[in-house]
Amino acid sequence: MDLTQNDCVNNGDCDNNSDFSKRSDKPRRLNMERQRSFDERSLVEASPRYTSWAENGQRHIDLDSVFSPSKRSPFNTPRGRYGYEAHPMFAEAWESLRKTMVYFRGQPVGTIAALDNSEEKQNYDQVFVRDFIPSGLAFLMNGEPEIVKNFLLKTLRLQSWEKKIDRFQLGEGVMPASFKVLHDPVRNTETLMADFGESAIGRVAPVDSGFWWIILLRAYTKSTGDTLLAERPECQNGIRLVLALCLSEGFDTFPTLLCADGCSMIDRRMGVYGYPIEIQALFFMALRCALVLLKQDDQGKELVDRIVKRLHALSFHMRSYFWLDLKQLNDIYRYKTEEYSHTAVNKFNVIPDSLPEWVFDFMPTYGGYFLGNVGPSNMDFRWFCLGNCIAILSSLATPEQSLAIMDLIESRWEELVGDMPVKVCYPAIESHDWRIITGCDPKNTRWSYHNGGSWPVLLWLLTAACIKVGRPQIARRAIEVAELRLAKDGWPEYYDGKSGRYVGKQARKHQTWSVAGYLVAKMMLEDPSHLGMISLEEDKQMKPMVKRSSSWTF
Ligand code: GLC
Repeated sequence: MDLTQNDCVNNGDCDNNSDFSKRSDKPRRLNMERQRSFDERSLVEASPRYTSWAENGQRHIDLDSVFSPSKRSPFNTPRGRYGYEAHPMFAEAWESLRKTMVYFRGQPVGTIAALDNSEEKQNYDQVFVRDFIPSGLAFLMNGEPEIVKNFLLKTLRLQSWEKKIDRFQLGEGVMPASFKVLHDPVRNTETLMADFGESAIGRVAPVDSGFWWIILLRAYTKSTGDTLLAERPECQNGIRLVLALCLSEGFDTFPTLLCADGCSMIDRRMGVYGYPIEIQALFFMALRCALVLLKQDDQGKELVDRIVKRLHALSFHMRSYFWLDLKQLNDIYRYKTEEYSHTAVNKFNVIPDSLPEWVFDFMPTYGGYFLGNVGPSNMDFRWFCLGNCIAILSSLATPEQSLAIMDLIESRWEELVGDMPVKVCYPAIESHDWRIITGCDPKNTRWSYHNGGSWPVLLWLLTAACIKVGRPQIARRAIEVAELRLAKDGWPEYYDGKSGRYVGKQARKHQTWSVAGYLVAKMMLEDPSHLGMISLEEDKQMKPMVKRSSSWTF
């Protein structure tokens, strides 16, 4: 299928995948430069929001150099490439990021989680798959795809390892949580060591790793125009293996993916087992990315059909049952319980008494968000940053829902951004709940770490989501807040306290994804065309199926 200019102009983004089965996002072997300039034009010209932004004189895009890897900055930072004077922190961040690069047999293969030698290393000296995503995006945006390609290929090799926890063999498609390069000074050799959860604290499975791997592969393809990598048989097989883990038939009654606790960025017991939004949103995005990466050969075709079906069921389920706004909250508040049969309104038998007090104040008149978790008699009303941002970026959220998520962030700025963007989840779990839900975890006390802590890395996701819904000014505000302290405090992993005023109790300093998250946020804001790497336009076929709220049509 070829790409026509109309496709771009109509949809505002060449990455539109308006019909899952048509797969208009399928990487095409077009002349790289042509594809790039198309994407660039489609974003800048076809979208009024970027045009007006340019009219404000706030940005300047150098069309020739933006996507040209050969025009890499001689200063080792992209400074000057965009024709703007970056914040001093920007150059410092690039320098720090380069120091975290990990080499295997002479080639860069990833970035170390943290360069903090003051604390016990634990596994912070490893390359984490999820942590590498902002690093990889930063390198792609700076025209340095090599490290990303090597990372994708190395982790793919690790996927094919036999994985065991005690005597139990893990699924073939599981991607590692992290890996490390071991140097043998005597033999002068290097080998890789990987952790699939068998060494991780709590023995948690990294469900998100495989999804991030697929998402990064698409970002690489999109940014470089190199479709050959994804088309390699081993990459096609890698995608199939990841998906085999989540598309297999079982006892499920929902299209969402059933997970154990600690299976994502929140990798400790935090009451995120069941159907956590963080994983459902990544699952949705990975399925959509896989759809554009998979070859339509005999093997691929059958899988594509299954993906399309799952996407339809998943988006319906998420948009219907995970969505919460004032109207929906009021409906739940008045729910009847114990309804039997398919006519039930309260399908999951949620008991209104289980509604937490805080949610009534938290819910603004205009705005909404995807719930943390929905299952039988279970609604986790906590707001999760990553899940809601990924829902926007993957277009799991309808355009109306995306706007509503942004409305909520603006209305609850103090709570969600406060003194350091962004809360990983809101609010914190306290007292008895904390004891029961976390198992008395001293690292996850209220307003710390995963329990309502503020994570600078999330800045890139917030920024991408803001740009996608046409509100870059929100991201700009958040970045300004971060710039007040992030570098001065030594790029901490997370901040504590209700508004994120304190460097986290056990936060590592020089945490790589805090650095890379900032860089990606800055580069995207400066050049919104980068957004295409990590964003997918809405599928027009998934239009309104239900109408649950008068304020938002689906
Ligand atoms: C912590 C975080 C996890 C991250 C890891 C390495 O365990 O919870 O999300 O991947 O550190 O930075």
